[in-house]
Amino acid sequence: MLSPPPTVLVVDDEELILDLLKRSLRGLGHKVQTARSAEQGLKLFRQDQASIATVVTDICMPGVDGLALLGSLKSHDPDLPVILMTAYADIDTARAAIRAGAYDYVTKPFDLSSLGISVGRALEKRRLVAQNRAYRENLERRVEERTQQLREAFARLNSIHLEAICVLCKVAEANDTDTGQHIRRVSLYCTELARALGQPEEFVRQIEYSAPMHDIGKLSIPDLILKKNGQLTPAEWEVMRQHTTRGAEILAGVPFLEMAREIALCHHERFDGNGYPRGLQGQQIPLSARIVSLCDVFDALLSRRCYKAAMPVATALELIEKQVGSHFDPELFEAFQQLLPRMLEIWEQHKGPLTAPA
Ligand code: C2E
Ligand code: SIN
Ligand code: SIN
Ligand code: FE
Repeated sequence: MLSPPPTVLVVDDEELILDLLKRSLRGLGHKVQTARSAEQGLKLFRQDQASIATVVTDICMPGVDGLALLGSLKSHDPDLPVILMTAYADIDTARAAIRAGAYDYVTKPFDLSSLGISVGRALEKRRLVAQNRAYRENLERRVEERTQQLREAFARLNSIHLEAICVLCKVAEANDTDTGQHIRRVSLYCTELARALGQPEEFVRQIEYSAPMHDIGKLSIPDLILKKNGQLTPAEWEVMRQHTTRGAEILAGVPFLEMAREIALCHHERFDGNGYPRGLQGQQIPLSARIVSLCDVFDALLSRRCYKAAMPVATALELIEKQVGSHFDPELFEAFQQLLPRMLEIWEQHKGPLTAPA
């Protein structure tokens, strides 16, 4: 984009001086506009702010004087270089001018060549300031663009990561359940329950993708135990319980898997403190894990497993209700009950081949 040619605005109430300055500056190759008063000068500046690159103004003028004009110009554009002229070589006026933000100061009757040099320097400064600003704006735009690209790359990485994890979860689940349907249902129940509890959308989104990983630690449990067709011995049970800590180890150290990690670790804790692996109690158990615990057991009871038959809905609910306050968080159970029709809809819609009719 071409910027307009830089213009010097000259303000003086004396026609002769104005004319002299105009011809002199034009002689040096500058584009010049003139004004006979501060008011007119300010008006011209407002109309043509984009091209007026420096202002040369007399101090002593009837009406608004040069110092006041300097103040108005600076409040419009703090970077505008303004050169003041005065008829008296007076050091106090010079000081006042510089303090008020003047770029330079010349005395009349003046040496036209020194004014020419001053104007030349003012224009050069103006050009550098504009260039620097354009550079900074360009830099900021590029930083913003790069940040956006990084954000997108990170989101892509996250989704690739999640897809990989999803495959692992299905592998883990295929070992002992109905290939993918249980973890899908648990994810959907948890999402509904979290939303009904008034959790923020970010939490809801996180629990949706985190809940399916709750049993990922079962990957490290030997098939002989995982697929055992019957009661586990105390030693086998000891190993089985480790699917919580193993899962948390698998998911550790990745920020966006933090909720998944705490769910894997804490989804078998019980509200009364009699759960595993650490015996956490009540609110010590992360909310995400309390939600998954209730939804996981609900679904596990309705499902057939290698070690047990499926239960009818009524029996499952009775069994859960008996454990409200001991195994399950009472507040969560209440919300769950309100949502029961929706939960059963999810169950029906995502039933796997190994689940018995309700
Ligand atoms: P899972 O089969 O997905 O069960 C998850 C949770 O649902 C269980 O956690 C338990 O709290 C509840 N649950 C499931 N079925 C029943 C049931 O018939 N009655 C009652 N009262 N609760 C039930 P839990 O007990 O900590 O077990 C964790 C995992 O350990 C189970 O996940 C399963 O993979 C395995 N497991 C538990 N018991 C046995 C067993 O007797 N034999 C075998 N082979 N595996 C078992
Ligand atoms: C699975 O067996 O993979 C999921 C069952 C559970 O949530 O314990
Ligand atoms: C966690 O370890 O992720 C949270 C459970 C706790 O409060 O210790
Ligand atoms: Fe589990």
